[in-house]
Amino acid sequence: MWCLRAARTASCALFLVVCTHAGCVVAEVADGEILCPCHGDRFAPAAERPVRGLARKLLRKVSVAEPDGVIVTR
Ligand code: FES
Repeated sequence: MWCLRAARTASCALFLVVCTHAGCVVAEVADGEILCPCHGDRFAPAAERPVRGLARKLLRKVSVAEPDGVIVTR
């Protein structure tokens, strides 16, 4: 899973690392976007659809809570 933390809110968004295009493991975060190395798709945490590429769905997001600064998945 990738955890992207928004600088303004300090809240954490957690995403599964499986690309929704063809199942590769997304491997890098650059400029606030999650990148898939297989076909170059790009995913942004706040976007309503993939930013670039062949995927039609966003990365699967996991609900999280941060009681006392510890990240807990739901
Ligand atoms: S599997 Fe990720 S872009 Fe194709």
